[in-house]
Amino acid sequence: MGRLSGKVAIISGGARGQGEAEVRLFVAEGAKVVFGDVLDDLGHAVEKDLGGEHAVYMHHDVRDEGAWLTMVSAAENRFGKLDILVNNAGILQFGTMTHETTLEDYMALVSINQVGVFLGMKTAIPAMLRNKGGAIVNTSSTNGFAGYGGTIAYTASKFAVRGMTKTAALEYGKAGIRVNSIHPGGIATPMTQGADLGEMSKEDQDAVYAGIAMPRVGQPEEVARLALFLASDESSYSTGSEFTIDGGMLAGTVNPYAQAQPS
Ligand SMILES: NC(=O)c1ccc[n+]([C@@H]2O[C@H](COP(=O)([O-])OP(=O)(O)OC[C@H]3O[C@@H](n4cnc5c(N)ncnc54)[C@H](O)[C@@H]3O)[C@@H](O)[C@H]2O)c1
Repeated sequence: MGRLSGKVAIISGGARGQGEAEVRLFVAEGAKVVFGDVLDDLGHAVEKDLGGEHAVYMHHDVRDEGAWLTMVSAAENRFGKLDILVNNAGILQFGTMTHETTLEDYMALVSINQVGVFLGMKTAIPAMLRNKGGAIVNTSSTNGFAGYGGTIAYTASKFAVRGMTKTAALEYGKAGIRVNSIHPGGIATPMTQGADLGEMSKEDQDAVYAGIAMPRVGQPEEVARLALFLASDESSYSTGSEFTIDGGMLAGTVNPYAQAQPS
């Protein structure tokens, strides 16, 4: 028996990174998964790798309400119901100071990271009500708790995800739908390893990690295991809550003179 046996899930942004790790882990734990992305070649490759019977890939832009409705219908028609939504898709804009950020860029980010999460919940919740329950996992960030220079739109969107999570939890708790947010710190995915970080060098990144309790970058599989817990019945009394997975980043800054070394 897998930890998600008998469950049906939708995961957005599942073609790579944390979303891909969640698709793979959820299938391994017995779920049927409908996942979407705008990177169709990568998405189809993941679907093919998983055999197509347990995981179905669909082109899905989280800004498009009609595409969300199609995803929800696909889950119900193909697998009979919808138990789980993981709002994972997101983009990063990094390095632009507030006065330099164009309205166009700000709106482009918010339309994916914030409006996309709203549309996911808005379209999945009716199916969960028909199912008499469900679990929603919204992907925020450590930027949902604290600012970071050069991320005005991203930070705004991740604070919004945290707030929307609490509102939805309050609205649907009695109906058996739990809604929680996850808050990753630095995770090794294309988002943080590619061009998204602009001019931030590898040395600059390493310096950020050196100052946290666990001085390393996180792995997408570690985030997927947290999402699995929140999607499963194991978290049956958790809703409206924030689950941080950041190697201690938000705990504070390490004092190198008061830090135990490995023995
Ligand atoms: N990597 C990190 O350090 C980190 C830290 C905190 C939070 N997060 C959040 O985790 C989530 C996953 O990010 P990741 O690190 O795996 O990055 P990633 O770039 O590897 O994956 C994001 C996925 O979202 C997809 N996507 C982008 N725009 C989309 C759209 N309009 N519609 C559908 N899909 C779209 C991308 O194509 C990609 O497959 C994001 O919400 C991100 O903000 C990441």
